[in-house]
Amino acid sequence: MTPLPPGPSVWPSWRNLLRLRRDPLTFLTSLARDYGDVAAFHVGPVPIILLSHPDDVRDMLVTREWNFVKGPGLERTKRLLGEGLLTSEGELHRRQRRLVQPAFHKPQIVRHGETMVGIADRVAGTWRDGDERDVSQEMMRLTLAIVARTLFNTDVESEAAEIGAALTAAVESFVTFASPITLIVDRLPTPRNRRFEAARDRLNTTIFRMIDERHRQGASGDDLLARLLQARDTDGSGGMSDALVRDEAMTLFIAGHETTANALTFTWYLLSQNPGVEAALHAELDTVLGDRLPTVEDVPKLAYTEMVLTEAMRLYPPAWIMGRRVVTDHLIRGVRLPRNSVAVACQWVMHHDPRFYPEPDAFRPERWTDDARAGRPRFAYFPFGAGSRLCIGEPFAWMEGVLVLATIARHWRMRLVPGHPIVLQPKITLRSKHGMKMRLERR
Ligand code: HEM
Repeated sequence: MTPLPPGPSVWPSWRNLLRLRRDPLTFLTSLARDYGDVAAFHVGPVPIILLSHPDDVRDMLVTREWNFVKGPGLERTKRLLGEGLLTSEGELHRRQRRLVQPAFHKPQIVRHGETMVGIADRVAGTWRDGDERDVSQEMMRLTLAIVARTLFNTDVESEAAEIGAALTAAVESFVTFASPITLIVDRLPTPRNRRFEAARDRLNTTIFRMIDERHRQGASGDDLLARLLQARDTDGSGGMSDALVRDEAMTLFIAGHETTANALTFTWYLLSQNPGVEAALHAELDTVLGDRLPTVEDVPKLAYTEMVLTEAMRLYPPAWIMGRRVVTDHLIRGVRLPRNSVAVACQWVMHHDPRFYPEPDAFRPERWTDDARAGRPRFAYFPFGAGSRLCIGEPFAWMEGVLVLATIARHWRMRLVPGHPIVLQPKITLRSKHGMKMRLERR
């Protein structure tokens, strides 16, 4: 029997857990740099194996994905998302994915371009030259409104601040690597758990309101919520329970705005720190758009804008880690991943690997020209995952990201308020712990 991969397994596992909790990004990066492309450590009794070569990420997510299931951390995520697309497995996941997928086909998404631009323009319309704002909250407000309008045909702008606060409370209660003790503590009436439950109830109120509204209208319409409510099994029976519709709606509501908001927030930050890139972005927008708002037809012409977003998601991948439970003993490079161990692919580690990105901390959109891409393995970049669990919203997110960036950067530049601390908070997604306080300057 081949041994476990190399790693700091001599350390007592509580110490690994502590380092993971305190600073998972540094811990995992040094693990990969010190022990190589397949490195192991323990959290409690469970071996965790970090895969840091693009070929092995492909192996886990695509080529031999059937050897892995989502397992780890799922129970905790299900406390918020139930059995939605992100958390369900097996037949339920396949059925739900079939049902939801058509709403995310390109022709459907293109219909939403105008709404995305309209909402971005309206949010920016509330800003005044010289305002200081938490741009992460502004982006959250904006992407929340977009997802509510495009997928659920509803307006949440009046509730956006409350929903945002509830989401923050829910996200903050998550730990990345749950130990068996965490799972027990989850059931105790601690202040943190009570905050989580209050936040979940707040989010449920909005979702059930949307479902009720739709029931009253006879589940008509062709938005996503209507589709979920109309869905029937192939024999015409067995529609989705309200509970399952709630889980899907909650999943899309949360997965569909937090990630994009974080990507945009870090993009504004990076632009503020890199005036040369910012000037090139403005030059493209001035040439392609002149003084008008962007449309979906402009998206293919906004190549540099897209490269800026791509590079921002390299440096700050909103989904920064993906874990899978190994279903059956699995060999990678002659190294054994034992059954029930946890394999981890970490976007943060891969996206900062100097083998694929020289001077990895530098913000260089030109890394994403066709030629530069061709010189790099495909799985050196996987912000949206891959395989059967590939992000269903990827085309939606690209279009939204480019259109929102273009709409706002036409007229605005943002400058970090001096002294504002940038501390990363890697929970379910990668956020800026203290938000992003910026001064808005009209250009
Ligand atoms: C920048 C924006 C986004 C990023 C970086 C992102 C990232 C990801 C990643 C990495 C996964 C795979 C997770 C895994 O396999 O463990 C995923 C799944 C998913 N995402 Fe996204 N996402 C983004 C935007 C969106 C949007 C806009 C929506 C919906 C409107 C969405 C809905 C989903 C759903 C439902 C899944 C689960 C898919 C499945 O397992 O079938 N995401 N996302």
